[in-house]
Amino acid sequence: MNRFEDLEAITRLNEPMAAHTSFGVGGRVSYFIEPRDWDELQLIYSRAAEDGLRVRVLGRGCNTLVADGDHDWAVLSTKRLTRFRREGNRLEVGAGYDLARLVARAEALGLAGFEALAGIPGSVGGAVAMNAGGRYGCIGERLVSAVVAVPGHAPRWMLAGEMGLGYRGSNLIDGRPFLFSATFELDTAVPRQLQERRRFIIQEKRASQPMDARSAGCVFKNPKGTSAGYLIDQAGLKGTSVGGAVVSHKHANFIVNRGDASATDILQLIGIVVERVVEKFNVRLELEIEVWTD
Ligand code: EPU
Repeated sequence: MNRFEDLEAITRLNEPMAAHTSFGVGGRVSYFIEPRDWDELQLIYSRAAEDGLRVRVLGRGCNTLVADGDHDWAVLSTKRLTRFRREGNRLEVGAGYDLARLVARAEALGLAGFEALAGIPGSVGGAVAMNAGGRYGCIGERLVSAVVAVPGHAPRWMLAGEMGLGYRGSNLIDGRPFLFSATFELDTAVPRQLQERRRFIIQEKRASQPMDARSAGCVFKNPKGTSAGYLIDQAGLKGTSVGGAVVSHKHANFIVNRGDASATDILQLIGIVVERVVEKFNVRLELEIEVWTD
């Protein structure tokens, strides 16, 4: 039975999540749906609620590890929610807008404030939910408000202060509530200067991170006062592997899919890393990536 027959144009059945995640692993989901507007979004939520079907929200899949096997979920992809509206120094951007594209577009418009996000893959919705960033800042610093969807209700405005944005997290994780679009306030600057800064940040990242490998970025959050990458490295774990999953030689907080890894390999490797870091430093690393299991 296809519960979303009337949304055929935007629905794929039994879709492999390996095709939609940067790790390139993960089992199949019953429904993979790409709503184009608010009405389709609401329809998906209400239909899923009627049938007791779990809805999970995916941006570009750059920070998500989906378990192997079959999952009876409706994965709601934000890919087609790509609104872009400028009003002076404010940008209202759809959840599915590509983050790298946003950084480039703001730069071309002479709008400053997104340079710290250079080189971070993902969607705007995912970046806000995770409060993505690096050593020069995070996306939350520029966020003013968002339009969110609470299933069965009209669109709701939320101010940045209500979203619980903190270090790599917020209360919007996994689409509860679902972020539809976000509004940012930027400064003005000369595009050339912004370009230089962006290039510098990307170069710096490229020197220390396996940017071209299949990964989900940093796997663990940094514990207070130290770096997860440093601890994993000092525990001698670089190069440790399970199946096709390996702890990166370039940056120890990255797990890389060498090509034939499964989600199970990655999960086992995560378990080994956590265990060894506890043994050596008595520190329990917490996941930064989102793991989707049944
Ligand atoms: N280090 C090692 N070995 C390693 C990796 C790092 O000794 O294999 C040491 C470095 O030499 C440095 C310290 O650990 O002294 C910190 O490393 P780095 O500067 O690479 O920063 P990080 O804390 O590991 C954080 C973010 C990254 C972000 C970078 C740069 C987290 C979990 N990670 O990494 O974000 O790109 O700063 O701004 O907060 C991500 O969130 O996915 C991510 C990659």
